[in-house]
Amino acid sequence: MRFNENSRLGDIAAESTHLFMLLSRFEIPLGFGDKSVKTVCDELGVDCRTFLAIANFVATNDGTVYHSVSVASLLYYLRASHRYYCDFLLPKLREELLSVTDLVDDRKLASLIIRLFDDYAASARRHLDFENDKVFPYVEALVKGSRLNDGKQLSDVIRQHDSIDGDMSELKTVLVKYFPFNDRTRDGVSRILCDLFVCEDDLNVHSNIEDTIFIPAAMDLEKSLSSSVSAVGGAQSR
Ligand SMILES: [Fe+2]
Repeated sequence: MRFNENSRLGDIAAESTHLFMLLSRFEIPLGFGDKSVKTVCDELGVDCRTFLAIANFVATNDGTVYHSVSVASLLYYLRASHRYYCDFLLPKLREELLSVTDLVDDRKLASLIIRLFDDYAASARRHLDFENDKVFPYVEALVKGSRLNDGKQLSDVIRQHDSIDGDMSELKTVLVKYFPFNDRTRDGVSRILCDLFVCEDDLNVHSNIEDTIFIPAAMDLEKSLSSSVSAVGGAQSR
């Protein structure tokens, strides 16, 4: 493990964009000085082991930490991430793209760029909505000790889960190869390209957290619920 509960939260957050973003998704306000992860988490009621599991996974790619997470806390983190993508990041990127494409005389190129972004954003939203509407409620029920979707397993729910279609390659390629680069556009288009790279990278890390930590932890919970139900059933039948 790279970080433990005595690590200083400020050092973790200053290490990379992905680690810094954990703060807002766990609703940890800035200004914690030199306090340790454990102190800050205890003060705010954040599950320290879940925070550390995600921080360590982001920093080292070690997925074995999934055993130590609280599924409820992970759900909170994932829902906050989804809100950030849908309510802030995707609209903000579109706004930025519109402001740079407004500077382009070639209106066909400008509308192609916006269409490529909209296709990507629609695919990302479909993916996130499916999790919000199907996967998370199923797992929230497991956390409360019950099951939704009679007879269905979490694996059945996830199977209907499309990955985000394609990526941002086409959009980035069009921007790099064809966007007019001049005194008026240079800074704006450079900025939006950097932001698109960061967004894509962040969504990849997010998906990896779901696949490597969230789903295995939720499946363990489902298994333990099934065995306790069958144990109760067994006891009653005796
Ligand atoms: Fe997600």
